[in-house]
Amino acid sequence: MCGIVGYLGERDAYPILIKGLSRLEYRGYDSAGVALINGNGNLVIYKSKGKVADLDNLVKGKDLSGSTGIAHTRWATHGEPNDVNAHPHFSESGNLALIHNGIIENYKSLRTELSSHGYHFHSSTDTEAIVQLIEYIMDSHHITLEEAVPLALGNLVGAYALVIVNKKDPDSLIAARKGSPLLIGVGENEFFVGSDATPIVEYTDKVVYLDDEQIAYMRKGKEMVITDINKVKKTPVVKKLNMSLSQIEKGGFPHFMLKEIFEQPSALETSMTGRLYEKESGVKLTGIIDNKERILAARRFIICACGTSWHAGLIGKYILEELTRKPVEVEYSSEFRYRKPVLFPDDVVIAISQSGETADTLAAIQLAKESGCFLFGICNVVGSSIPRTTDTGIYTHVGPEIGVASTKAFTAQVATLIQLAIAIAELDGREPELRREIISELVKIPSKIAKILEQDQMIADYSKTFTYARNFIYLGRGYNYPVALEGALKLKEISYIHAEGYPAAEMKHGPIALIDEEMPVVVIAPRRGNYEKIVSNIQEVKARKGKVIAIVTEGDTEVKSMSDFYIEIPDTIDCLTPLLTVIPLQLFSYHIAIAKGRDVDQPRNLAKSVTVE
Ligand code: AGP
Ligand code: GLU
Repeated sequence: MCGIVGYLGERDAYPILIKGLSRLEYRGYDSAGVALINGNGNLVIYKSKGKVADLDNLVKGKDLSGSTGIAHTRWATHGEPNDVNAHPHFSESGNLALIHNGIIENYKSLRTELSSHGYHFHSSTDTEAIVQLIEYIMDSHHITLEEAVPLALGNLVGAYALVIVNKKDPDSLIAARKGSPLLIGVGENEFFVGSDATPIVEYTDKVVYLDDEQIAYMRKGKEMVITDINKVKKTPVVKKLNMSLSQIEKGGFPHFMLKEIFEQPSALETSMTGRLYEKESGVKLTGIIDNKERILAARRFIICACGTSWHAGLIGKYILEELTRKPVEVEYSSEFRYRKPVLFPDDVVIAISQSGETADTLAAIQLAKESGCFLFGICNVVGSSIPRTTDTGIYTHVGPEIGVASTKAFTAQVATLIQLAIAIAELDGREPELRREIISELVKIPSKIAKILEQDQMIADYSKTFTYARNFIYLGRGYNYPVALEGALKLKEISYIHAEGYPAAEMKHGPIALIDEEMPVVVIAPRRGNYEKIVSNIQEVKARKGKVIAIVTEGDTEVKSMSDFYIEIPDTIDCLTPLLTVIPLQLFSYHIAIAKGRDVDQPRNLAKSVTVE
């Protein structure tokens, strides 16, 4: 979940590393550190609790020379976030420094063993065991670092992406991965290592994605060598990076989250381009066409995801069932992987993940693979682990999402699931009328979102009145029940206000006990779907003096008259309403969080890419 940056080349490493860390800060951010082999050939390490800016302050006036270095932002798993536990960690002799993303499960036994050989541990991390183990293997076997790394990695249980520098060999870097992402940018006589592409994009568009259990050996002025942990050489596959610098900058917005909310009209258009054909009234998805038999023969679809992606999956269930008439199950990846799910070889498992790196979702699809299921991925980050593990899939293509709270990735996932359902129904000859209707409405969604965004200032003004609130309830029905869950999650994540989403009809089975004049209740009540039913639910809230904030269709009068505040959305067909109703909820959470002075892009305790289980 952390950020990893490495540099080896002719330029000063520090400016590249620190800029890279700030670009990666969205991934995890409790402490940061850097190791450089400086101009005098010394290995210097600076580490600090807090943000990347704290590290940058700490090193002011220090010797930051050197063109070989590694840097890290940590999201602590083992040991509290403090200066000592921050990475890089160094070996007993002080010759090796290492940064690590992931968890080493057998770190305790490694520490005990290494301590018995006279190795001293300074931190509480699992990571320190790796660097000490590597040095122990070098010393006890009298071998080089290159030879020791694969042996050491073979002794690790768990997940890692790591980079090592060696004071005795200043012109080289070694990187390796298993279960956590790592890629290498290849420049002219220089290498850039990153846990994602954001620190690299500025310097080169040529990248090599390491596969699990691969080790990259980089040496100044030489070609990179990649092997697996059995030392078998692998040919590096250089790919073109499809990312621009402007995509990872704020572009005039105060926060990435707000920028990403406002990007949704154009992001959704891009995401549908080349797939949705309005004139022909069809959806072309190569992943579906190329695997037609397998997908049409599916006994059921099982969607695995976490967090916001799981909410998108719930909407996916509704639309897939409506259009394909196949049973769909939606699973939390973390639950699915640890129970004994009943799986059949003719099941199609759909993994949804913005990052493509979520550890639980990756593990869920590995499990499904073992049962012979067909694996389909819906991911945003190109080249990430899930698309590389699945049989086929679709990229949502909305560009990098930096804000920790997912916004544009969610709407793109929903739009993609809708297109997926249409494409499958099309192959099966089902529901031609409904498909036509959905397509003709789907193309209008981007401009309808733009219209909702015009209400931003009004939502901002109103949000200020809720800084007092300690709880919120979100209610929705049908296609908008998952939106209620998503609205509540957004609010929790960035404002730290407790919020719960419920299917509106469930309220009377318990949560209604919470309603009083202090309880704000957000009701998603578009005119489509179960409108009359939700009107009754609002009556129930009003009867108990709850404060109603309603999302209504333009022109609505009934719900408006019962609400304390309302936000209008343009009309669209039922299954597409989530793409509109979620927009005011994103803005609402953003503005409440701002009014409460929260750090919306980097909310406490969260990380963008959850690469640990
Ligand atoms: C969304 O706002 C969250 N930060 C989180 O729930 C996220 O959706 C979840 O961790 C899944 O991530 P993924 O889509 O990258 O797999
Ligand atoms: N497990 C390591 C630690 O707690 C790495 C955490 C991370 O990925 O940032 O230090």
